[in-house]
Amino acid sequence: MAKYDNSFTDELRQRLSLVDVISRRVPLVKKGQNYWGCCPFHNEKTPSFSVNEEKGFYHCFGCGEHGDIISFTMKSQNINFVDAIKELADMAGIKMPEYKQKSKEQIEAEENYIQITEKATQIYQDLLYQDSGKIALEYIKKRGFTDEMIKKYRIGYAPKNNIISARFNNIKIDKLTSTGLVRIGDYGPYDFFRDKLMFPIYNAHNQIVAFSGRSLDGSEPKYINTTDTELFHKKQTIFGFNFARDAIHKNNRSIIVEGQIDAIQMQCHGFPETVAPLGTALTEDHIAILCKSNRNIIFCFDGDNAGQKAAIRACTLVLPFLRENSDVKFAFVTGGKDPDEILKNHGVAAMKKIIDNAVPLIDFLWESVNKNYLVNTPGGRTSAEKYLKDCVSKITDKIFQNEINEEYNSRKFNQWHKWKKQEYKPEVKLPDIDEMTVNVIKQIVQTYPEITEKYLDFLTSLNISFDDEVNKTDLSLENAEKFVISLKLQRYINKLEQERQELLKKSLDNGEKYNQEILEDINKKIEESNTKLELLLDMNDK
Ligand code: UTP
Ligand code: MN
Repeated sequence: MAKYDNSFTDELRQRLSLVDVISRRVPLVKKGQNYWGCCPFHNEKTPSFSVNEEKGFYHCFGCGEHGDIISFTMKSQNINFVDAIKELADMAGIKMPEYKQKSKEQIEAEENYIQITEKATQIYQDLLYQDSGKIALEYIKKRGFTDEMIKKYRIGYAPKNNIISARFNNIKIDKLTSTGLVRIGDYGPYDFFRDKLMFPIYNAHNQIVAFSGRSLDGSEPKYINTTDTELFHKKQTIFGFNFARDAIHKNNRSIIVEGQIDAIQMQCHGFPETVAPLGTALTEDHIAILCKSNRNIIFCFDGDNAGQKAAIRACTLVLPFLRENSDVKFAFVTGGKDPDEILKNHGVAAMKKIIDNAVPLIDFLWESVNKNYLVNTPGGRTSAEKYLKDCVSKITDKIFQNEINEEYNSRKFNQWHKWKKQEYKPEVKLPDIDEMTVNVIKQIVQTYPEITEKYLDFLTSLNISFDDEVNKTDLSLENAEKFVISLKLQRYINKLEQERQELLKKSLDNGEKYNQEILEDINKKIEESNTKLELLLDMNDK
């Protein structure tokens, strides 16, 4: 029988909800801390089969059957361990690993690797305090790092020359290249990291498996990381996790920030439970690793647009991991670029305020849906509802999923209903659109939510009420879009012409010399838009 290492079965246990798996076969009801149902392993009419989601096991008080997600799958379907694992892996949507015994050579190669990265770290650390590292040391001190912090995080300096390839010249070259520290170029081996401030990256066993190097001369990219190796998988590695693990357990939560310097500064200033993904992209694996400790996560994103986008992505990734008692929140940095800047310029209290003001996932999701969809139109509401439904369906804990659904249903009723009554006042006075056009637009909004979404701002600005029931449009998607674009262009031309009139009128009224350049610019725009419009209508005929 093939063997699977514990990490895979652990992953299955983490990814899947026991209640969810058992409910597929046995109806369960929550009473107190546990879920109860009629035991599938013996005949009974009153439920004595209890399931404890938190601890991950079931127990029957009638017949004494007892076990976890894997034994339940084996016993309830009378299948063996391997088949049970396969079925659960399918359910969790993860691939079965090929079980391979590590060969002697492989074990040796891994030991070599760790020896090299360890030694390299020491070399970099020493160089930071030598002449060649002067600029790097000044830089990191200026960023608020004390000697203790530099020592703790083993920060170093990779010099401009090829130090690793030179110092390890007695070691076989493929051993060096396997660590990603050395590459082979046209002129022989060269160091991957040169003239960089070096941050070691640790694996779960506290071994250094990779590095992140920051440029010191303002050159791009700002950071380079070791590319994936046998022992380093960027998508599965969390920066700072080795230092944060105990605190994540003790404080019963983790904080995820965007950058590695942010993570270090947070850890050193009252938030030891802080970590960062490597590079900018957060992955499902990162969340799965954190969820092994607990499911209480505060995502702390930079206050820019990218931060908003990243937050929505994180929200989608974390949904399958949610349980009734998990506490996932979103915080956004304001008053500075990132946590590092806040701590430096405004202090720990300001950062604490940002963390304390984090918004629960349910509210964050609701707010972003209301921001991103035209929820005062039927089409917009349909798309918004679809999106919300899609999100909520990702929650695997069915009981929790139902709760969220109910919450959103009541919000939809209370808030979207009220939204309908709000009136929109356009800034520019444009001539009213004729009734027929209004009707076509209403039909398009009703028929094509994708168009509604894409031209959201424009459609809102038309100041039409989209609430009456209308028929679906006969126009194809393509022609419907052309219709909207041409209307948009016409409105734009109207606006330009209005501007031109005002400009001319102003100069007549006051004898003011109108600005020839502005007038020419407007004329040019009008002409261009007219050409575009003609082209569009021309195509429409075909
Ligand atoms: P930021 O651009 O926000 O940088 O990227 P930062 O963390 O504030 O960096 P400092 O404070 O200027 O030193 C956030 C994170 O994205 C990754 C790094 O992990 C960085 O911490 N990143 C950024 C890269 O991997 N490569 C890059 O070129 C830039
Ligand atoms: Mn920064």
